[in-house]
Amino acid sequence: MTAQIIDGKAFAATVREKVAGHVQRLKADHDITPGLAVVLVGEDPASQVYVRSKGKQTVEVGMKSVEHKLDAGTSEADLLKLIDDLNNDPEIHGILVQLPLPGHLDEDLVINSISPAKDVDGFHISNVGLLGTGQKSMVPCTPLGCLMMLRDHHGSISGMDAVVIGRSNIVGKPMAQLLLNDSCTVTIAHSRTKDLADVVRRADIVVAAVGRPEMVPGDWIKEGATVIDVGINRLDAPEKGEGKTKLVGDVHFESCAARAGAITPVPGGVGPMTIACLLANTVTACCRANG
Ligand code: GUN
Repeated sequence: MTAQIIDGKAFAATVREKVAGHVQRLKADHDITPGLAVVLVGEDPASQVYVRSKGKQTVEVGMKSVEHKLDAGTSEADLLKLIDDLNNDPEIHGILVQLPLPGHLDEDLVINSISPAKDVDGFHISNVGLLGTGQKSMVPCTPLGCLMMLRDHHGSISGMDAVVIGRSNIVGKPMAQLLLNDSCTVTIAHSRTKDLADVVRRADIVVAAVGRPEMVPGDWIKEGATVIDVGINRLDAPEKGEGKTKLVGDVHFESCAARAGAITPVPGGVGPMTIACLLANTVTACCRANG
């Protein structure tokens, strides 16, 4: 089988169009502009790229974008004060603190200081609990983007066997929860899983979110399975010229595509959906805040 490529870039563009339509109606009918604040502490190069991209796309769909770039040595007290100000700012409907934070800052404390209603990342413990009990919550953007692509491709995923490789709080765990809420039979695999190849071979849906380049080979994939590759890994690519790099996912694309029924590419798969879902979550937060 040669897999159908799931075009996350095109799908994300349709999500952004819908978001832009909602934003226009909020402005025209209610004089409300959704606002997203992104907080970056320090100079991590990958985080700087993501934050720039988030700001640009926020403005493109007509929303207000506020960026707070703080020094790497910012104290916890100063960061919590900024978050408190944003929690109380009526023009800000979504707050995102870019992770990872510098080591001296307590990530859990910082995330849980964001108002749950403005927590567009869905990382606040209240939102984690709401998602875990199937209640209305803010849903983490990357898993939400993956779920949207799966639903779009399959219609219903009820009853399917799904394996999530990776157990991070940002992707693996909420992804498993979303799949369970959609009535999949879910396995969470991780670095201590025995016979990972056998576990993956049983799956109708494979979500790879481990951050290890091309770790899933094609012969782990069941014929016709759907493969969602969350990994974004930068590798040296001397064949493209000196000092050049290329992006690869957590699955070996060519060999997995030869067996899968459908697969997301890297780049152009999950990545673009993450920011599109962040914009959608900000509009959702804005609508909920305004009844
Ligand atoms: N760092 C990597 N992914 C994410 C994300 O989805 N949200 C935040 N806040 N930080 C991240």
